[in-house]
Amino acid sequence: MATREGVAIITINNPPVNALSHGVPEGLETAIHAANADPGVHAIVVIGGGRTFVAGADINELEKAAYGQAELPDLHPALNMIEASPKPVVMAIHGTALGGGLELAMAGHYRVAAAGSQLGLPETKLGIIPGAGGTQRLPRLVGTAKAAEMCATGDPIPARDALAAGLVDRVIEGDLLTGAIAFAREIQDRTPPRTRDRAAAPANLDALREQIKKSRKHQHAPLVAIEAVEAATALDFDAGCRHEKEVFKKLGHGDQAKALMHAFFGERAVAKVPGLGKDVAPYPVTSVGIVGAGTMGGGIAMSFANVGIPVRITDSSQEALDRGMGVIRKNYEASIKRGRLTPEAMEQRLALITPQLGMAGFEQVDLIVEAVFESLALKKELFAALDQVAKPDCVLATNTSTLDVDAIARSTSRPQMVVGLHFFSPANVMRLVEVVRGEATDGRVLATAMAVAKALKKVGVVVRNGFGFVGNRMMFPYMFEAQFLVEEGSTPAEVDAALTDFGMAMGIFGVDDMAGIDVMWRVKREFADIFEKPGERRPLVADRLCAMGRMGQKTGAGWYRYDESRKPLPDPIVLELIRKTAAEAGIEQREISKEEIVERCVYALINEGARVLEEGRAARAVDIDIVYLTGYGFPAWRGGPMFHAGLVGLDKIHARICEFERRHGPRWKPAPLARLAAEKKTFADYDAERA
Ligand code: 3HC
Ligand code: NAI
Repeated sequence: MATREGVAIITINNPPVNALSHGVPEGLETAIHAANADPGVHAIVVIGGGRTFVAGADINELEKAAYGQAELPDLHPALNMIEASPKPVVMAIHGTALGGGLELAMAGHYRVAAAGSQLGLPETKLGIIPGAGGTQRLPRLVGTAKAAEMCATGDPIPARDALAAGLVDRVIEGDLLTGAIAFAREIQDRTPPRTRDRAAAPANLDALREQIKKSRKHQHAPLVAIEAVEAATALDFDAGCRHEKEVFKKLGHGDQAKALMHAFFGERAVAKVPGLGKDVAPYPVTSVGIVGAGTMGGGIAMSFANVGIPVRITDSSQEALDRGMGVIRKNYEASIKRGRLTPEAMEQRLALITPQLGMAGFEQVDLIVEAVFESLALKKELFAALDQVAKPDCVLATNTSTLDVDAIARSTSRPQMVVGLHFFSPANVMRLVEVVRGEATDGRVLATAMAVAKALKKVGVVVRNGFGFVGNRMMFPYMFEAQFLVEEGSTPAEVDAALTDFGMAMGIFGVDDMAGIDVMWRVKREFADIFEKPGERRPLVADRLCAMGRMGQKTGAGWYRYDESRKPLPDPIVLELIRKTAAEAGIEQREISKEEIVERCVYALINEGARVLEEGRAARAVDIDIVYLTGYGFPAWRGGPMFHAGLVGLDKIHARICEFERRHGPRWKPAPLARLAAEKKTFADYDAERA
């Protein structure tokens, strides 16, 4: 503790984000005591050391508690002690004040915040609710409706909004500490106001509840958070806190909390690539060339422009280039219409994208991303040409989704500089980038690809080269199982409803219609050796839909027919086609339960995931989980397919898979990792064995 002009300065130092880990609240209590005991101190400023104020309770401790390996942290004693301090406490916020961090700030008597800081209660994103009085203090400061919204969505607000809402007392433009001390000296003679002494007025939260039921479907915490905030209007502060604590405890031990915490740490774990040391420095990427201005090339160009990185984009004809730039502009205009972008920002971003024929200037860029048609011959030819143009330390990336990255790399004289950057469509929106490590890919190139993903605010996951990499490779058995189910008597709408009830963002038939049934047809034809194994059942209906010209949304009909608003509608023609196809193939149709639909689709995904792991295409189960959470609409509150398997129990899943194998044949052969089930282990144990 230091003192300046009669103000005690308490600095919280628990890098990297000053989480309130065990010992930190206790340290704060000691420092507050000392400041109160010092007659030379008239006011107290609490500030965060390093890059931020306080990012909340320590999620490692919360995760341990979720599994019963520790007690849930209790921040109340420290917070109550701070609130009771006879000398005023000013919380000085920079970076982020999140969760327990904001709860700590609200226990102080005043809050000042650096311009640019963010304040929020993101606990529901971890499957819990605030557990240190947040649901009780926030409505007393910002009003019940605003507090309920902040607690339910978990979205932080910027300092200026916090000032307007009454959450902070001043926004400091210059040096935060200097501003905080000046503020403390202004208020040092006032009686410290306690948040708990204020009242929270009732508010109508029905509309918020309805909105949350849709946007956070299936999740327990957000609705419970609204209820806890509402309790602040009926109960006194201590009773409200007791209610909050009860709920916090219950949710804190729940599966959704376990899954969402796994997802939180998982997103960070995938950035740490096994075998790639922290000392491997990425090449700096300050300019980019993109080849192909189609669906993907355009989206990738937008992704770079959105973070201020200039791109040159080329295509084989002026017409294609104009079309591509037109789509980019249209996408930005749509964002403006939705209020997410200003016209000035659009112009700034467009100015960063230079459309051009030919490759002039490509010799200077740090990274080239190829996004031309999916043809190996074309890509090989192009990479040979890029090899002639690019500077020696330029990273050459392909966005191929099915082709052999090693074969593409071998068409250059520098295969070590080649990597796959598998973006997902729409590339300007989807967060996942599979970073495909070829057999020759150099460590620095891999590090560069991961750094690029991060710079784009996306999530890079390293995968090995091989058909479908990780995500698509696993999706095929999942999709095929869904198609088998309709041949056996279910309908596309029933299967999709079962999957969205399970929590998937979209049903698989809806996905197939969106991606284009012809796309899958082409892949199946090109990779017949993978899809047509002797004696193994193949889905029959999709190819027939293709032959009928029903390619999905783009032709107005596929598994569903579509009205003008693109709403999928069950189509009697498809149901009849399915029935007829099944009859011709001698497949008996029956009623199939929702439970069987989910088990067969999701266990097919998990079984293939285990194979992917065994083959080393993904290094860890958590990599697979993050691929599915960020690229395939798997529900975060289930933690990803491999984590979900652990919650269900690998032994149970293994038994079901064995049963399916007896009933449906060799495609259900249990993956080699069945030993995990026998040893009653989870995929997390598998990852730990490899750490
Ligand atoms: N507890 C433990 N570790 C945390 C943490 C926390 N609250 N917040 C971040 N970390 C760790 C990350 O795991 C990461 O560790 P690593 O380097 O070993 O991978 C490191 O801190 C840096 O984090 P990021 O990579 O995420 O850094 P960024 O600068 O990109 O983001 C952040 C910083 C915005 C603070 C982001 O980390 C974040 O959103 N953190 C979580 C905030 C949160 O959810 N707080 C609520 C916790 S629950 C709670 O407070 C309960 C209470 O009500 C009782
Ligand atoms: P697209 O057909 O929309 O765009 C391809 C573009 O490449 C066209 O504009 C075409 O004119 C251009 N092009 C072709 N040959 C060229 C050449 N020699 N030089 C310069 N430009 C050339 O295709 P899309 O969908 O953008 O796919 C591109 C790549 O991205 C493919 O490898 C595909 O497999 C992959 N991919 C596609 C996804 C999708 O959902 N569409 C998802 C992930 C990857």
